[in-house]
Amino acid sequence: MRALISAAVAVALLGIPAATMAQSRPDPMRAAASAAGTPSADDPMAALRAPAQDPEAEISANEELGGLPDARGAEDTFYQCTACHSTEIIKQQRITDARWDDLWQWMVDEQGMFEPEPETKTVILDYLKAHFSSER
Ligand code: HEC
Repeated sequence: MRALISAAVAVALLGIPAATMAQSRPDPMRAAASAAGTPSADDPMAALRAPAQDPEAEISANEELGGLPDARGAEDTFYQCTACHSTEIIKQQRITDARWDDLWQWMVDEQGMFEPEPETKTVILDYLKAHFSSER
């Protein structure tokens, strides 16, 4: 009986440091999450920040986004493009869809622009082509 009790005590004593060590082990998923750091396309807040669009409403300039037309893609475009220059250089363009594709590639290849998720790229290029095009 006595032997049993001391065995139980020994297990309890040994158990504490073992549990403490297990808890202090870094969580590999947490490291990955904080390393990501950059805003991504699946940012859950993006949907809340995006203003609801009434397709009938006239599109107005959003002064908080450098005066870009306030439509889907404005916010992504603002954050993607104003790292290097203002929105003025964008707003003055009336160029073809193909030229926007070329410019995107030039910004990536020659200026080192960060290439976002493919969905974000599509949203931004669609936005640029919808609002700063010579074709429509
Ligand atoms: C990594 C830096 C960088 C980023 C990010 C960037 N640009 Fe540029 N962009 C430049 C530089 C440098 C120039 C040429 C110098 C200038 O005129 O300021 C330029 C020029 C331009 C021009 C003028 C091109 C011409 O024919 O004169 C347009 C339009 C443009 N950028 C659009 C964009 C758009 C749209 C985005 C976002 C999708 C973007 N840029 C993101 C660096 C960048």
